[in-house]
Amino acid sequence: MQLVENFSTPRLLAERLRFQHLHELCEMHQNTQVMATLGGVRSDENTRLFIFNNLHHWQRYGFGLWVFRDKTSHKFVGRAGLRNSDVEGINKVELAYAIMSDFWGQGLATEMGEAILKIGFELLNLQEIVCFALTTNQASQRVMEKLRFKYEHEIIHANLPHLLYRLTA
Ligand SMILES: CC(C)(COP(=O)(O)OP(=O)(O)OC[C@H]1O[C@@H](n2cnc3c(N)ncnc32)[C@H](O)[C@@H]1OP(=O)(O)O)[C@@H](O)C(=O)NCCC(=O)NCCS
Repeated sequence: MQLVENFSTPRLLAERLRFQHLHELCEMHQNTQVMATLGGVRSDENTRLFIFNNLHHWQRYGFGLWVFRDKTSHKFVGRAGLRNSDVEGINKVELAYAIMSDFWGQGLATEMGEAILKIGFELLNLQEIVCFALTTNQASQRVMEKLRFKYEHEIIHANLPHLLYRLTA
């Protein structure tokens, strides 16, 4: 399988997640605004574990999370990617995204999502990709709709009510 280590979107540069991103991810995972819809802030130790798990995912499946930077300033904007996830007891590939709050409301999650879906369907030959968000996370639901995901039904994920969306190739 072809590994997509780097790519760009109109406004962003993406690089495969590496352990060197620890500092930036710790900053994101300590941000109460960003983490309010992602299970709350995480300790730096948990972020280290998060990176190890996601590096293992890259090794096992040949894809995973990317870190995104602003093309001009090279500032850390967020993380997003594809990862295997347990959805109602079945393994599915999920589109995941999180953006630093300074960059919200500029269409950047949608821009990341578009590029990642193209990789998922056209290079990785995935047949379907799911996405889910807390029932209260309207911004994320809007991102899924803009990416043409179709709403399926409510699920319980991480013990919390989420809305499940699906997109097929
Ligand atoms: C959800 C998140 C990724 C959105 O990122 P973003 O770059 O601001 O997203 P976009 O700008 O591409 O699109 C956001 C859309 O939601 C809309 N929106 C934002 N807040 C909203 C709200 N409270 N209610 C309804 N719509 C809302 C915006 O208006 C925009 O839609 P529009 O383009 O039709 O105007 C970002 O808020 C985030 O990182 N949140 C924390 C982590 C998270 O929740 N990740 C997703 C987990 S499922």
